[in-house]
Amino acid sequence: MLRKLVALVLFIAGFSSTVGSQTQSVDSEGHQWWQHAVFYEIYPRSFMDSNNDGIGDLNGISSKLDYLKSLGIDAIWITPCYPSPQVDFGYDVSDYENIDPMYGTLADFDRLQQQAKTHSIRIIMDFVMNHSSDQHPWFIDSRSSRTSAKRDWYMWHDGKGSAAPNNWVSTFGGSAWTMDFKTGQYYYHYFYPQQPDLNWRNPAVHDAMFDVTRWWYKRGVAGFRLDAVDTLFEDPELRDNPVLPGLNKYGDPNEQDLYNTKLPEVHAVLRDLRKVADENNAVLIGETWTKDVNELKQYYGEHSDELQMPMDFLFTKVDRLSPPEFRRQIAAVDSAGGWPVFVLSNHDIVRSYVRYGDGKNNQAIAKLMASLYLTLRGTPIMYYGEEIGMENNDPLRKEDVKDPIGRVGWPQEKGRDGERTPMQWNDSPNAGFTRGTPWLPVPLSYKTVNVASELKDPSSTLNVYRNLLALRHQNRALLDGDYVALNENDANVLSYLRRYKNEAVLVVLNMSSQPQEVSFDLAPQGFPAKSAHTLLTTMSGESKAGSLSHLSLEPFSVYIGAVSK
Ligand code: NOJ
Repeated sequence: MLRKLVALVLFIAGFSSTVGSQTQSVDSEGHQWWQHAVFYEIYPRSFMDSNNDGIGDLNGISSKLDYLKSLGIDAIWITPCYPSPQVDFGYDVSDYENIDPMYGTLADFDRLQQQAKTHSIRIIMDFVMNHSSDQHPWFIDSRSSRTSAKRDWYMWHDGKGSAAPNNWVSTFGGSAWTMDFKTGQYYYHYFYPQQPDLNWRNPAVHDAMFDVTRWWYKRGVAGFRLDAVDTLFEDPELRDNPVLPGLNKYGDPNEQDLYNTKLPEVHAVLRDLRKVADENNAVLIGETWTKDVNELKQYYGEHSDELQMPMDFLFTKVDRLSPPEFRRQIAAVDSAGGWPVFVLSNHDIVRSYVRYGDGKNNQAIAKLMASLYLTLRGTPIMYYGEEIGMENNDPLRKEDVKDPIGRVGWPQEKGRDGERTPMQWNDSPNAGFTRGTPWLPVPLSYKTVNVASELKDPSSTLNVYRNLLALRHQNRALLDGDYVALNENDANVLSYLRRYKNEAVLVVLNMSSQPQEVSFDLAPQGFPAKSAHTLLTTMSGESKAGSLSHLSLEPFSVYIGAVSK
């Protein structure tokens, strides 16, 4: 209450101060810019290729800013575009303060930043803080000798006899320890051997990495998505992880990552990073694989002084259209005390279009899912191509796989190529992404599933996204309203109210393949109205009002309406 009052007073006084390169301001609810923003993840290799080498680039992104603006995007998160040997397609960084030539130059970045600013679009960079590339000068120095000044910047340990220091396995397969014969010690890598873990217990590492964030803030970025924060620290005693029954998809023993993930030390680093972020009115988004609300709460920080936006990936773990399951997850995240973040998929996760699709009604289901995560209380992070209903295009043969984990884990693990294919802009060859040979193949569906064609069709998935985003940006209840679950025993239809003062928005989502009839009594929520004013529906036959006592829903349809007192 007190926080709200303070926020209100600040707002009335026209509070606005320039911190770093960004302007700090809050709305009447005390909300910061990132709470009302819609984020959009861009995988730069695959978004738009401006020089026809088959790989997307920064100038390609610049050329699509008008598109992003008209879609309703406020911030783009660009996955790593720094110099990199590309073993993990950019998540192996060999220079944190530059741009890889395949993506352009720093001058291209600055131009993108300027142009994005004129479009009122902020840029979020990916901060790969757990590890660098083995080709980073820091690691080259570190591995050069046991007495190198940078030796302690990484995790070097003696083996146990002829074996690795302990039983930890890499999440990408094999031991997490690689022997370096030159110096006769093992180094630790939670991911590929080409991604050695930085030693965050070393203050010099801490300072160097913090300087990286300041360097990018000075260039005007509005925040970071923090890669793999769960794995920043390891047990100093290197205790063995408990072994679980069975083998994983790489043939390694299953383990509980007890001693090498989610150590409490990470929170001190996050608090420090947050201080620097606050000085720059920036947002920190975390790649946080939380298993429950308790862990999620920890990432917000005991005093809300860590991550503003930990991604808990709850929706990515619900793999079927189950209203009770979504209800449970939404209620959990809504009660965590921080600002919720909603993600349907990303460059590591099979596209939501195929995860939820039933093969027959995929477009209707894509619209249904869009209507869910774009109308909840919280910030959505879209994944490029989701807005047109792009599908996964998984490799069919091991020899076609580009993502190394797909080659190691084939056929159980096909890698992540399928969700990283080029953006489908139009129906010309290669979907208009490149005039060269695209680095990953475009699925045949691009002929109809593409931006240009969908823009022409008022009921396309793209236009549903555009309408939802437009609504979300101007509707107070959708921006600031509480989330109130309705008809909680309904196994087929997920419905809720976003309630803000005298107004509310009713969202009704039929998650079943059957027509459904629903009724609502909103009097207990303070809205005795008998009908809602239709704001958006995916049902055939426009109706201006929806009866609250008798709302008929087509299979997989959406109804969104305004109710007032
Ligand atoms: C998480 C990133 O999203 C993923 O693509 C990458 O492979 C790992 N972190 C390692 O950096």
